[in-house]
Amino acid sequence: MIAIIHGSHRHGIHWRVTSILAGYLQEQGNEVKIIDLAEMDFEFCCGVQVCQDGECVFKDDILSKIFREVILQADCIYIVTPTYFNMPPAKLKNFIDRSNALLPIFEEKSTHPLFGTWVSGEADMESIGNNSRLLYEYAEIMGWKPCDEIKEEVLLENTELDKNRILEIAKTLHDIVR
Ligand SMILES: Cc1cc2nc3c(=O)[nH]c(=O)nc-3n(C[C@H](O)[C@H](O)[C@H](O)COP(=O)(O)O)c2cc1C
Repeated sequence: MIAIIHGSHRHGIHWRVTSILAGYLQEQGNEVKIIDLAEMDFEFCCGVQVCQDGECVFKDDILSKIFREVILQADCIYIVTPTYFNMPPAKLKNFIDRSNALLPIFEEKSTHPLFGTWVSGEADMESIGNNSRLLYEYAEIMGWKPCDEIKEEVLLENTELDKNRILEIAKTLHDIVR
């Protein structure tokens, strides 16, 4: 199963990228689950770190459910996100912080998901590259398998999207997950 995390706070450009990727992958017979952070309300990581020896304080909220049912089951985790001040948007950063609860579980697992990102922005490539680097470092900490073939960094000129490029990434994703 391929988990696509939509990291924007709204349904804009990155939602279109997510939809095109998911549409192609489903057409090719892949099971795809979209985690749409724009539509989700979840608690901030409260920083007490009890999750390192047991369960997250918020074990019954929507994000804990998604961690159990999607992230821990995924063969590939793909993040599609805008850049906010050289970094991931706040909701995606909170997703990352809350996923601290998964670290001991992934440490015990014998197989780990592939990881890739579509990161874009409208200001400059440097900030987009920084965001993308942070996300790849996060994946390494989680013990996932960062894959450069599905890493895309895009400066959106006049908010134009290159649909062919999205489909190329989708095809590569399909090929490497098979
Ligand atoms: C708070 C904020 C900070 C931003 N910072 C950056 C930035 O550092 N670099 C960049 O290229 N674009 C930046 N942008 C532009 C967004 O990345 C751009 O609007 C994004 O493509 C919106 O995607 P969406 O339509 O999917 O929400 C920023 C936008 C916001 C709202």
